[in-house]
This record gives sequence, C-alpha cells and structure tokens, in this order.
Amino acid sequence: MIRENISLKAFNTFGVEVSAKYFAEISDENQLKNVLKFAEENQLTILFLGGGSNILFTKNFDGIVIHLNLKGISEEILDENHILVNAKSGENWHNFVMYCVNKNYGGIENLSLIPGNVGTSPIQNIGAYGTEIKDVFRHCKVWNLQHEKIEILNLEQCKFGYRDSVFKREGKGKYAVLEVGFKLTRKHHSIAMEYGAIKSELEKLNIENPSIKDISNSVIAIRKSKLPDPKTLGNAGSFFKNPTVPLEQFEKLTLKFPEIPNYPNGDFVKIPAGWLIEQCGWKGKQIGNVASHERQSLVVVNKTGNATGKEIFDFSEKIIRSVKEKFGIMLEREVNVV
Ligand code: EPU
Repeated sequence: MIRENISLKAFNTFGVEVSAKYFAEISDENQLKNVLKFAEENQLTILFLGGGSNILFTKNFDGIVIHLNLKGISEEILDENHILVNAKSGENWHNFVMYCVNKNYGGIENLSLIPGNVGTSPIQNIGAYGTEIKDVFRHCKVWNLQHEKIEILNLEQCKFGYRDSVFKREGKGKYAVLEVGFKLTRKHHSIAMEYGAIKSELEKLNIENPSIKDISNSVIAIRKSKLPDPKTLGNAGSFFKNPTVPLEQFEKLTLKFPEIPNYPNGDFVKIPAGWLIEQCGWKGKQIGNVASHERQSLVVVNKTGNATGKEIFDFSEKIIRSVKEKFGIMLEREVNVV
C-alpha cells in the first residue's frame, strides 16, 4: 500500500514532474489509520492530495503523500424539497455534479466542470458563476489527526470565506476530509443565472426558464470557451485570487484607470485579477515553458508540458511584481505552493 519514490506528474494538474518519498493511496478509513501510524513512526511530513488541481509542487516531496481515493455517493431525503447527498472525498467533482444534475438535484449546477475531487471542494470553498460550496454545504466528515478520530464539521465550523476555510487556516494539517454532505433542492430550485456570461449564453440558446441541466450546460460551454482543459494543457485554474481593496484605494485607482472593472462589497471593492494581469501585458505571454493563458490571463499554464514547478512559481512572482508596480495591489496566490 505504501510505495516509495513515486512520480507525482499524474497527480497534479500542472503536470509538473516531481516525486514523493512515500506515496499511499487510501480507499477506506482503516487504510488511512494504518498509513498515519506509519507516518508517525517514521516522523514523516504528511500531504493529503485529492485531484491535485490546486497545487504547485516546486520540489520533490520528502514526506508521505496520502492520496485520498475514497469512493461512494449516498442520499437521504430531508424534506419535501431537500435532499442530502453525501459524496466520499475521492469522487471526481464534475462527475458528482453530473450525478446530481441528471437527477435534477439543484444547487451545484453552476459548479460544473471544476477540476478536482469532492474532498477538496470545502478546503477551497470552490466557487464559480455566482455559487460557492458554502451555499449548499451541510457538513463534512473528517479524520482529526490530533484527536485521532472521525469528527463531523458543520457549516459554521468550516468558517468559509472567498476561496478560504478553516482547512487553510487554524485547521491546516489537522484534518483529512473523508466525505462531504450537500443539501440540494429536489424541486423549487433557486436558479442562479445573474452572472453576465450565463445570461448571454442562455440568450444565445433562447432559453428563458432554464432548468438545472440548462444552467449546467451553459456553465460547461462558458468554461470550455475560456479555461484550458488540464488534460491537454497543464494548469490549476485561477492562479491568483481576485483582490479586494478598500473603497478609498479603489477611488484613487479609478482616477488613473477609469475603466477598471469592479464588484463593490460594502467598504471594499473586488477587482478581477485577470484584468489587472492583462493590463500589465501578460495575457498570452510566454517565458520559457510557462505562459499566461491567452483567453484568461488569471490562469497560468504549463505551455510546453515541460515546465518545472520552480519556473511556474518564478513566472507568478513576475506577475505579482508587475501588478504591484502598476496598480499598487499585491496579488495573492490561490494555488497552494509546496
Ligand atoms: N478579465 C480580463 N482579462 C482576463 C480575464 C478577466 O479583463 O484575461 C476581466 C473581465 O472584465 C471579466 C472579469 O475579469 O469580465 C471576470 O472574468 P471571469 O468571468 O473570467 O472571472 P474571474 O473573476 O477571472 C472567477 C473565479 C473563477 C470562476 C469565475 C467565474 C477567482 C480567483 N476565479 O474568475 O474560478 O470560474 O470567476 O465565476 O475567483 C478558479 O478558482 O480556478 C476559477 C476558475
């Protein structure tokens, strides 16, 4: 079950060639306990890996990579209009969305085609086109490494924020996500179609009252038109978060850049990082093996397939520096750098 010196190229969507000193694939909770015991006895650093869609390896990993590959979906009717759908962490996210869409369960259709696995969805609080995991999240089942037992975390305990959760902060390294439960609608769906790109896609198709399936199809079409498929071009989706700046700073910026796109939120304003990066001349630009995607500059791609993690990291540093110089805004990476 525990293997040594394993290539991680197939386990990260950037397709970066690095190796793990130890690697274990886990398909049930008992195996996890045994592997954790091995890690403790050998004092190994642990890295839990799901779909590898939000990680940048910059060097070989000297500890143990635990690939969580638990499978299974179960359902429980909650009331007339709601169903609880529990998915094990190793289920592919998009396949899970399709399972729900095909059964006409509403709530995650806007999250179609997001790469990665179910288990990482709460870590990132994945979001797209007006929906975030937190909107439908009911609980998750985790293994608490400190208490050495299974625990259930509810919505509040997960402390979700924009691409953020307890798992990235005080709970970092403390939990392995085993299963996630989503509260979805069975009828009376609340369709989220305010996002501009969805509206235009539906108009194009002449759909006025979209079904769950229509929304999912629109999202798939939009994503396919803008975002590169990691199977053919290594990437990890948005490389940076969209920055939020205080209103005052935003107002100063608009004097110099009146066309700056923005999403006001109270005393703060969110600015699309893709716009900032494009304005700095990065869209489609390639240095060595790495490039900013030609259709969405927020996505950094392994253009030749031969990029090292270090090269990708250095490329992202250059982007951060130029955005800081031109706009005085410090971009933060969304991708986890290891
Ligand atoms: N824009 C540009 N140039 C670019 C890219 C974007 O000018 O190269 C500007 C445009 O004004 C555009 C705006 O940015 O209208 C927003 O672009 P888009 O709709 O593509 O969304 P985003 O803010 O760049 C976020 C998420 C995506 C998610 C989309 C749709 C983050 C970091 N990214 O991107 O999430 O799919 O919204 O909801 O919040 C991911 O996290 O991996 C991801 C792909």
